[in-house]
Amino acid sequence: MPAPTASLRDRVAMYNGNALKIGMFGANCSGSRTPTKVPERWSASWPDCLRLARMADDAGIDFMLPIGRWKGYGGATDFHGTTLETVTWACGLLAATRRITVFGTVHAPLFHPLIAAKEFVTADHIGEGRFGLNIVAGWNEGEFEMFGVHQRDHEARYAYAQEWIDVVRRAWSEEDAFSFTGEFLTLSGVRAKPKPFGGSRPIIMNAGSSGTGQSFALRNCDAFFTATGATRTSLEGAAQRVQEIKDEARGFGRAIEVFTIGQVICRPSQKEAEDYYRHANIENADWEAIDGMLAQRGITSHNTSAEEFAQRRRYFATHAVGGYPFVGTPDKVAEELALLARGGLRGIAISFVNFLDDLPYFRDEVLPRLARMGLRET
Ligand SMILES: Cc1cc2nc3c(=O)[nH]c(=O)nc-3n(C[C@H](O)[C@H](O)[C@H](O)COP(=O)(O)O)c2cc1C
Repeated sequence: MPAPTASLRDRVAMYNGNALKIGMFGANCSGSRTPTKVPERWSASWPDCLRLARMADDAGIDFMLPIGRWKGYGGATDFHGTTLETVTWACGLLAATRRITVFGTVHAPLFHPLIAAKEFVTADHIGEGRFGLNIVAGWNEGEFEMFGVHQRDHEARYAYAQEWIDVVRRAWSEEDAFSFTGEFLTLSGVRAKPKPFGGSRPIIMNAGSSGTGQSFALRNCDAFFTATGATRTSLEGAAQRVQEIKDEARGFGRAIEVFTIGQVICRPSQKEAEDYYRHANIENADWEAIDGMLAQRGITSHNTSAEEFAQRRRYFATHAVGGYPFVGTPDKVAEELALLARGGLRGIAISFVNFLDDLPYFRDEVLPRLARMGLRET
């Protein structure tokens, strides 16, 4: 249960002593993190999200991280075509749970910072200090066009996000009325009450992968999510990346918690796990949706050689969307997670093909192993 006063330290620790934090990633989006046609793929319906949050809360899972997504990727399943808005989703889940931290994921250019700051405070009061904020500066052109909002160039996106978070933090903390004059935002006579729960503020995370995105996170955030290159394909690569990020954070005079993402397929035997991974991620992949994601990054069969295009598609299906694939027996999955923790990683946001089908086995078999390794409380 959260303490009546939610210190920033308690919030960052997610109110427990788990050395390795584990979260559920992307449950608000249809398909979650696996663009697959298998009929049991994740629906992201509200009843399923609610059941998942209660199950995760009871299992001692630390957090739920939704994806801010406004437009699906198409394909046979319209991957991410059905999504629940993340802050209102968080409010509902926080009201229905007792311990778990729930993030809202917000595109800074699409939400006025004062409306956003008040929404976050509302969620935070509902959850008594368990709301967290994931800031997204924006990358997906199609989504911005849908809103009629011009996507700024990459550097300006983060310059804007800096003003945005400065305003949000002032609205959270300043007792007296204040004005703000920046390059992008001009606000006068701002008053915002109440303040966040318990005299502190929600934890803030970001997952920018560029140098600019990463330094934005290191300057402003409590947690940085990394999921690039080697992080997705090798555990050693991930551990090395964690150390690089921590070193850079020290350069800013800050300690930052580093997290990553992964897809888990855990079964009693290695063969069963691998067979299901191939079945869901490859044999039944929603290739059209994957092509849509590649096209958004400027990669099409017209401008890329057949061999490279095939390679990219396969990489997206097996690694890029879900992150590092933890595929195997409970022993193997627990050992791989432990390796990441020993490499300095503070936590991981994982996804399953179907959270409600797959979390119980993970809870019963993997979590106790992590506890025996000293990485989780029992
Ligand atoms: C764990 C994680 C969560 C993310 N969540 C979202 C999201 O919900 N919505 C979104 O549009 N982008 C999301 N992103 C994308 C990043 O915020 C970021 O825009 C992207 O990695 C590109 O980096 P850059 O902005 O530094 O170029 C996420 C990335 C990661 C690794």
